[in-house]
Amino acid sequence: MIIETRNLTKTYEAGQEQVHALRGVDFQADAGDFVVINGPSGSGKTTFLNLLSCIDLPTQGEVLIEGQAVSQLASGSLAEVRRDKIGLVFQAFNLIPVLSTFENIEYPMLLKGVPPKERKEKVNQLLEEVDLVKEGSRRPDQLSGGQKQRVAVARALVNDPVLFLADEPTGNLDSKTSERIMDIMKRLNQNHKVTFIVVTHNLEVNEYAKRVVYIRDGQLTEEQKR
Ligand SMILES: Nc1ncnc2c1ncn2[C@@H]1O[C@H](COP(=O)(O)OP(=O)(O)O)[C@@H](O)[C@H]1O
Ligand SMILES: [Mg+2]
Repeated sequence: MIIETRNLTKTYEAGQEQVHALRGVDFQADAGDFVVINGPSGSGKTTFLNLLSCIDLPTQGEVLIEGQAVSQLASGSLAEVRRDKIGLVFQAFNLIPVLSTFENIEYPMLLKGVPPKERKEKVNQLLEEVDLVKEGSRRPDQLSGGQKQRVAVARALVNDPVLFLADEPTGNLDSKTSERIMDIMKRLNQNHKVTFIVVTHNLEVNEYAKRVVYIRDGQLTEEQKR
């Protein structure tokens, strides 16, 4: 098992009020899974993903990555888990504006201290996989939305994570472009054997999943195996 949550609970304190964003979620994903978690706005998707990616901490319960409880890790080890085991993609792409496509994809390897030759090989391989060979030297403002998201997807995979997490990856894209990016993710999931977890309110994304899970008011229900 790659990732597991046990009784995962998140309560936000908003002034006098408490918001129960996650209500005791038990979830598991295996190596090579492609899980789509679908739910309406405000159902707890981003909260759940932020806990899976160790960006935020639960009020109660546990996240385990490859069997290791995240809460037991010292902050240095937690930073390493984030850097080495998890690739993240967001709705707004979050590319570095002054870097080229090539450099954006390369960046996580610089942080990890990967040697130049290996970096170059890896970026070139990913540029092919996301079909951006010709756009390698362009800056983000010279790319379309779909191209930017392909850069973000390649960047998320460059350090060979065990887990690829995406929060509304098609949220800023039209439906044709969304299909293209989902096709690419599906192919990358097969080629890289990484566990993909995508949260979205877009029901059309469900058809790319091996498993569909629904989230509503901070609780998950899984669709029967198809
Ligand atoms: N930092 C926060 N403080 C207070 N309430 C929050 C915060 N973040 C999210 N919420 C609330 O938690 C619930 C779930 O939000 P979120 O996880 O962002 O849902 P989704 O991503 O499905 O739209 C919503 O009611 C939202 O308003
Ligand atoms: Mg959200």
